Amino acid sequence: MHQVAIWGAGSMGRMHADCYRQCDEAEVKYVIDHDMEKARNIAALCGAIPQVHPDAALEDPKVDIVDVCLPTYLHRECVEKAAHAGKHVFCEKPIALTPNDAKAMTETCKQNNVKFGIGHVLRYFPEYEMAHDMITSGRLGEIGVVRMSRTGPFPKGWGNWYLDDKRSGSLLLDLSIHDFDFLAWCFGDVERVFARSVRHDRPLEYAVAIIRMKCGVIAHVEGSWAHPAQFSYKFEVCGSLGMIESDSRKTQPLTVLTGDVNTGKQGVAVPESPLKDKHPYLREIREFLAFVDGETIPRVTPDDALRALEISLAALKSAKTEEVVQL
Ligand SMILES: NC(=O)c1ccc[n+]([C@@H]2O[C@H](COP(=O)([O-])OP(=O)(O)OC[C@H]3O[C@@H](n4cnc5c(N)ncnc54)[C@H](O)[C@@H]3O)[C@@H](O)[C@H]2O)c1
Repeated sequence: MHQVAIWGAGSMGRMHADCYRQCDEAEVKYVIDHDMEKARNIAALCGAIPQVHPDAALEDPKVDIVDVCLPTYLHRECVEKAAHAGKHVFCEKPIALTPNDAKAMTETCKQNNVKFGIGHVLRYFPEYEMAHDMITSGRLGEIGVVRMSRTGPFPKGWGNWYLDDKRSGSLLLDLSIHDFDFLAWCFGDVERVFARSVRHDRPLEYAVAIIRMKCGVIAHVEGSWAHPAQFSYKFEVCGSLGMIESDSRKTQPLTVLTGDVNTGKQGVAVPESPLKDKHPYLREIREFLAFVDGETIPRVTPDDALRALEISLAALKSAKTEEVVQL
C-alpha cells in the first residue's frame, strides 16, 4: 500500500485526494497546506493528518509518494524537496514556469532515484485518448488541420495567484498547455507558432495560437479565461480519410466548479468525464502508482511536460512580440 502526502489543499489537492480515496493501492497519510483549515478540510475527507509544514511527511519513512498540487511557481522547490527526501513525486501540470526549472527538477528526481510524474491529464480523457489513437493509427488518413478550444471563467486560486504572470505563467502557459501537450503527443515537434492574446481588462484573457507542426499539420488553439459561466473544451481533427469532432458541451453533462473549501466561493472549473470508470484524474493517478510499482511506463514523461512548456513559452513570446516564433 502506497502512502501519499498531498502538498497543496486547493482545487487540485481536493481532486487528487478524492482520487486516492478510490484507489485500493494507496492511502493519503498527510495533507500539507500553509493554511491549516484547508489542510484539515481535505485531510478529513480521507482520514489523513493535516500539516502546515512538510517536514513530518518528508521525514516519515512510510510515505513513499508526494503529490504536489501547489501553485506552479512552487513546483520546482517542492518537487526537489520531496525528491531529496527520497519520495516519488507526482506533480500537477505545468511542470514549471521555465525550461531550466523543469530540467533541474527532472535531474534531481533522477539523481535521487525517484520516479517523477506530471499531471497532463488530457491524455487520460477518453475522447482525447480515442482521437489520439485514431490519428496515430492512420484511420483518419493524412491529417491537415486541427482545431482545439478550451474556454471558461477565470480561475480563482489561493491569493489570486493565477492573476500574477510570474506565478501562473498566464493563460497560454496554464490552460492552453493542455492542448499543446495533446498536439505534441499526436504529431510530435512544433516548427513554429504565431499567437495573439487579448488581456486589456484583467482578469479576463483570451488567446489564439496558430501552430505549424514539423509534420506539416496546422493547428488552431483557442484558450479563454473570459467565458463567464461554463467551462468547456472541444476539438476537430480533419484528415484525408475523415474528420472527428468532440464538444464537451454536447457530451458532458457536468462541469464542476470546485469552490474554496472555507469560504464556499468559486474556485477553478474542473471538467468531469461522464464515463465514471474512465475518470481521467483517477486514471492518471492509478497509472502513476503502477509506474512506481514498475508495472508500466508513464504516458507522460518529464520530457513531454518540458516540450509542452516550450510550446507555451513560444506562444507567449509570439503574443508579446507579435511575431512568428520558431522552435
Ligand atoms: N490538471 C488540471 O486539470 C488542473 C486544473 C487546475 C489547476 N491545475 C494545476 O494545479 C496546480 C494547483 O492549482 P489549484 O487550482 O489547485 O490552486 P489553488 O490555489 O486552488 O490551491 C493551491 C493551494 O496551495 C496552498 N499554498 C500556497 N502556497 C503554499 C505554500 N508555500 N506552502 C503550502 N501551501 C501553499 C494554498 O493555500 C492552496 O490551498 C497548479 O499548478 C495548476 O496549474 C491543474
